[in-house]
Amino acid sequence: MGKRKRSVYVIGNWKMNQGLEDIALFFKTFENQRLKKSKEGGAEVWVAPQSIHLGVCAPLARKAGVFLGAQNCSAHLQGAYTGEISSRALAEMGVVFTLVGHSERRTLFGEDQSVLRHKTETALKQGLFVVFCLGETLQQKNNQETFSVLEEQVISSLQGVAPLISSPRQLILAYEPVWAIGTGQTATPEEANEAQGFLRKILEKVGLKGESHSILYGGSVKSSHIEELMSKPHIDGVLVGGASLDPVEFFRLVECAETLSG
Ligand code: PGA
Repeated sequence: MGKRKRSVYVIGNWKMNQGLEDIALFFKTFENQRLKKSKEGGAEVWVAPQSIHLGVCAPLARKAGVFLGAQNCSAHLQGAYTGEISSRALAEMGVVFTLVGHSERRTLFGEDQSVLRHKTETALKQGLFVVFCLGETLQQKNNQETFSVLEEQVISSLQGVAPLISSPRQLILAYEPVWAIGTGQTATPEEANEAQGFLRKILEKVGLKGESHSILYGGSVKSSHIEELMSKPHIDGVLVGGASLDPVEFFRLVECAETLSG
């Protein structure tokens, strides 16, 4: 098999952080760093703020060359779902992508595989790109269940979505071992690469082209080890929580990714 042609992504998940001042500072710093250091390079830079801030972020993100996304979306198209945000409303606000299946949504908000499938389908139908997050817990890892858990997560939530996808860019996977999220512990590049190579095979089982979809690694990513991670063939980029809150550190991640993309 020849070398896979890949796009490279750095995606920031701000979670329930960043106030208006932080947002203004983030985009200003990011834009200045970009102007100082480089031409806009080969990495796709995406950020997911809190949904209420999407409208404020839209012009700033556009100017900084960053795509905006949501951290969550409703599984339903529209209707009497008080407090929910529809994919259609997100798309109308200029949002490009949504995260689906983040472990915090699965565990803290009880989102099960079927809810995640509906969210994925609804978002794709409304023209949003989906960054589908999945990964094993520490207990599952210790029980050597990582591969079976990943397979289950893909099959139960992504079975049947293939007809909704015309370009692989519409569905990106983010392998995020639950034990690595916000803990300062990362999977080794070899572990992550092996899991992500396995995910490509499982995508084929649900009728998707495993080699064509981008697969990112997430879980305590920092600029000190992004290079090691992304030098692995199955790691096409990173989904970053904590380190995405600091614009200088986030820019370092983007710079490293850009070096590796070219
Ligand atoms: P972290 O979060 O980088 O803070 O570990 C990653 C994520 O939750 O997507």
